[in-house]
Amino acid sequence: MCGIMGYIGSGNAQDILLKGLETLSYRGYDSAGIAIQQEGALHVVKTRGQIDDLRKKCAASQLSGTLGIGHTRWATHGEANDLNAHPHTDGRGRIAIVHNGIIENHLQLRNMLTERGYTFVSDTDTECAAHLLHFLYDGDLLRSLLLTARYLTGSYAIAAVCADDPSALYCIRSGSPLVLGTCSGEAFLSSDIPALLPYTRDVTVPEDGETAVLRRTGIQIYNAKGRPRKSTSFHVSWDVQSAEKGDYPHYMLKEIHQQPQVLASPPVTSHKTLNSPQQALLLGCGTAYHACLLGAYYIERLSGIPAHPEIASEYASRIAFPYKNCACIAVSQSGETADTLSAAHTAVNRGANLIALTNTLGSSLSRMASAALVTPAGPELAVASTKAYTSQALALLHLARSWGAQLGKEEDPLFEEHLQHLPAWANEALKTEKLLKAYIDPRADKPLFFFIGRGADAVTAKEAALKFKEITYIPSEAYPAGELKHGAIALIHPGMPVIAVCTQPQWVHKTLINLSECRARGAECVCFCLPHMEKEAREAADFVFTLPDMPPLLAPIISIIPLQLLAYYAACKRGLNVDKPRNLAKSVTVE
Ligand code: F6R
Repeated sequence: MCGIMGYIGSGNAQDILLKGLETLSYRGYDSAGIAIQQEGALHVVKTRGQIDDLRKKCAASQLSGTLGIGHTRWATHGEANDLNAHPHTDGRGRIAIVHNGIIENHLQLRNMLTERGYTFVSDTDTECAAHLLHFLYDGDLLRSLLLTARYLTGSYAIAAVCADDPSALYCIRSGSPLVLGTCSGEAFLSSDIPALLPYTRDVTVPEDGETAVLRRTGIQIYNAKGRPRKSTSFHVSWDVQSAEKGDYPHYMLKEIHQQPQVLASPPVTSHKTLNSPQQALLLGCGTAYHACLLGAYYIERLSGIPAHPEIASEYASRIAFPYKNCACIAVSQSGETADTLSAAHTAVNRGANLIALTNTLGSSLSRMASAALVTPAGPELAVASTKAYTSQALALLHLARSWGAQLGKEEDPLFEEHLQHLPAWANEALKTEKLLKAYIDPRADKPLFFFIGRGADAVTAKEAALKFKEITYIPSEAYPAGELKHGAIALIHPGMPVIAVCTQPQWVHKTLINLSECRARGAECVCFCLPHMEKEAREAADFVFTLPDMPPLLAPIISIIPLQLLAYYAACKRGLNVDKPRNLAKSVTVE
């Protein structure tokens, strides 16, 4: 969703902001803009469309200022057009702001400000914050920002510049991501770390309710009461190359191919021991929720602790949960997903002990948890999540295993050895790439795909169907194989692809019977299975893809890889924007 970027230094702010916005574009956007402070005035350039459209508009204005703010907007209030694009200014053009988040009480504020003579030019919630800031401005932008925040409900990261002040860039955050960084004579702010990486790998995160003033001499953070506090930074271990596509045509393909490397390392934990609870609640959205499904399977399997996966946005209605001694594991690649943050708050209020599993050190989720696990996936920039999913699944397996050990559960003596082998199996799974492309190319215009499986394979089927929906826009259904005949089998028609995932020996036979039932109704059946299941699979399926010879327990972490590739090549064949699918945003910071 929206991305914000700010710069103060001696370089050309316009160029630095455009470069930063380009990096943030993976978040999803439909308009963009910048405001540059130059010679006592603010110059705003904004447009509907892409960063290149903005670049063209900027070229005409040739701005040379060294202080400015920029924004990529993912429309929420008001369509994507030039007027609704950020930055927004107060009526006199003396203060400009960019905002990520939602101001929930914007209608009341709009009415209040209109009565006081302010004229609104956009449909956005953000514009009321620009006018309010002006209304409360007494010559001290920091103080006015703090005051403005008292009237705002919702979530926000706001950056502001003032025509009268060439020496500072101001920001405030509450519930939306914001990271700050400095390097000799320059200071930066951004919604996410990759945009800072060309300049620094030491990053500071203000807490909720805090403001910061960025000057050429450094950054000063102020707590919610406006008192200065010492800032602490953390070091980002990945470098700028890890946030670039390299030789790959898309981030998604690069990220799929990074999985062997990602699976070579366990998650980093902020706390050494996570004590085994009496029960576990797992919260997440989309792909992260699918990781929760796998996590719950691993926790029950390896530790015997009852585990309940919940879609984060639905959790509030589970009113009897949790009970005592419950660990709530909130899973989120970004650590900024509003639904997950809100569900995690609810779980904590209901007495759960919060463990955050994120891919982003310093994210809101990891900072609100009593223990944080950070997946070693590195930046994931394609909107469709791939390597984050497999690394979340592996992290949850490690957690389940450690809880099992605390409870004295016996473990397969070969388990450690098998874990070491995961990267090699991931590499082997990637080797089917050409075959998968050859299979999917002639089928990329099919109107409907079905994915089926049982147990942990049903989770893989769900995740595969989500990847298909997201990037190919082909309606795709995932069903527990046994559930098909209770309704969804009515959708099966001649030539329709039904893809079964078979890695769990106890279910293979039954899943293949369900696949045969589809075939008998004309479906074109495909099976992804372990080598020793191949013979049986060939009897039920028209196409069989053999997965590496791995233990069934670890198979769900690997078997999703060829299915990610299948979705990727279908989307390419359809000529779609794989990394930035329509309507989607990478980090969903509104509920
Ligand atoms: C799917 C996808 C989304 C995210 C979901 C949660 O490919 O990327 O479904 O998994 O929006 O995002 P995080 O993990 O950042 O909380």
